[in-house]
Amino acid sequence: MSLTLEEFASQCRSTLKAQPGSQGVTEVAKLLSHALKDAQFVDRCVSAETSERNVIYQDPELGFCIVAHNYDSAKTAPPHDHESTWAIYGQARGETEMFDYEIVESATMDKPGKAKMTRSYALTPGVAHAYQVGDLHSPKRTGPTQLIRIEGKNLAGVKRMAYDIIA
Ligand SMILES: [Fe+2]
Repeated sequence: MSLTLEEFASQCRSTLKAQPGSQGVTEVAKLLSHALKDAQFVDRCVSAETSERNVIYQDPELGFCIVAHNYDSAKTAPPHDHESTWAIYGQARGETEMFDYEIVESATMDKPGKAKMTRSYALTPGVAHAYQVGDLHSPKRTGPTQLIRIEGKNLAGVKRMAYDIIA
């Protein structure tokens, strides 16, 4: 039996309630990685018709969101965190090259911070990676990609602080 979105959301909710904080987020990333191997689940969540950002589930109690992304061409983002919350990137199709950074100088809303790249790695289909609160990262996608991401709260409209990359 293929997993439904409602069943998956319910698994996420019970995990986050049982293990508040970063441990629960890490466990939800494992659930997402497992779900990404269910082709029917992936097909139901994200397709070529999906927009670049489509919130497919928002939890009424905890506020976390499951978001489908369909990028029909290259897509990159500068180094960022997710402000006060976490996010899990699950790769459904295509490949994302992800870069992690350490903060050398904190950013403010008025002034970019400074960050140094610490490693890069590929997110390939079936891989889900958790970015805890404050984890600085930047994705690079050179071709079409589809993702299922989970955000600790809906990040639509949240302003991100900027970081300059230093060697
Ligand atoms: Fe991010």
